[in-house]
Amino acid sequence: MSNNKKFSPELLTSIWKNLTTAVILLDKNFTLVYVNDSASELLGLGPKRILNQPFDNLFNYHSVDLERIAKYALMDGVDCHQHRADVVFVDSRHAKLAISARRVKLDDEYYILFECRQTDDEIRHDQASNQMHQYQAARNLIRGLAHEIKNPLGGIRGAAQLLQYEVDQQERDQCAELIIEQADRLRELVDRLLGPNQLPQKSHGNIHQTLESVVKLSMLDSNANISLEKDYDPSIPDVFIDQGKIQQVVLNIIRNAQQALVDGGVIKLKTRISHQQRRPGKAPKKALLIQISDNGPGIDSNIKETLFYPMITNKEGGSGLGLSIAQTLIDQHNGYIECDSWPGHTEFNIYLPFVD
Ligand SMILES: Nc1ncnc2c1ncn2[C@@H]1O[C@H](COP(=O)(O)OP(=O)(O)OP(=O)(O)O)[C@@H](O)[C@H]1O
Ligand SMILES: [Mg+2]
Repeated sequence: MSNNKKFSPELLTSIWKNLTTAVILLDKNFTLVYVNDSASELLGLGPKRILNQPFDNLFNYHSVDLERIAKYALMDGVDCHQHRADVVFVDSRHAKLAISARRVKLDDEYYILFECRQTDDEIRHDQASNQMHQYQAARNLIRGLAHEIKNPLGGIRGAAQLLQYEVDQQERDQCAELIIEQADRLRELVDRLLGPNQLPQKSHGNIHQTLESVVKLSMLDSNANISLEKDYDPSIPDVFIDQGKIQQVVLNIIRNAQQALVDGGVIKLKTRISHQQRRPGKAPKKALLIQISDNGPGIDSNIKETLFYPMITNKEGGSGLGLSIAQTLIDQHNGYIECDSWPGHTEFNIYLPFVD
């Protein structure tokens, strides 16, 4: 704590007391030994009623995972985070808390330092915002579909009408051809919407060979003002993937970057070993990270939240299926794809587990 030397103990106590985060100190038997003002306010009990009480006595019900905290935080010294714990206080109020637990050592004894934040409003806000995004995505999907279906349908109807009155055999053949063509276009749309219908054919291989084929393919019709920089980690072991499908994913993402870089720019293709596969609800696993980034304008904020939904596009003539197909393919590999973007930078991170 050498950085804090210049602060008086009074000031530090005042900061501690005035934190809006509820702070609770528990001994190794999960008995409360200290609470700050926010904690006693949250619990609805004065410090005297709280101190020396077992943690469980502060609630009528709680879903705080004490077993995990005892095992990981107290025994191993690993910080524990619980994003959502439901609690009912002794005065019957209920709340949703985000909790962090960390082991601290004081006078040769281990304690658990708890930080709690009430998240009811955040959760409500997230739910409302999710609902809104889903609604917008559904509307976009319907609008996009309607548009894609209406064009060929118009063609089919027109050709059928002509066919009704046409006597010239050559004209009739042309009408029939047009109907077949437009029907095929509709079938192709449905197939793309349904997504990849074959299971991946996985084999062991070097990821950089897979990526090199994509680089070659993507450079064929690239704007001369766009450069592609590669930053490969040569120590990456072989991966067990469907080479063709992963190529399709990376190609879809590089194509998007090329289309975004209308005035030119740089696309970077990076590979790394990641120990933090951030798949929600799944334990971290050693994974291959493929990162594709560009220094273009960034993802339009209107579509950011629903980027991977089908038919989300802001391109003239775009079908908005590239990323949705990419996500399906990565899902088939038990992987995870995420996007981070701000003006001047867009990155897609693909995580593929080495072991399924
Ligand atoms: N690198 C990027 N920079 C800026 N915007 C991007 C980038 N990648 C994707 N986007 C945005 O995401 C949208 C959806 O991409 P997606 O690949 O799913 O569909 P699309 O490219 O519009 O159509 P399709 O790929 O089916 O031809 C794009 O329309 C574009 O607005
Ligand atoms: Mg695309």
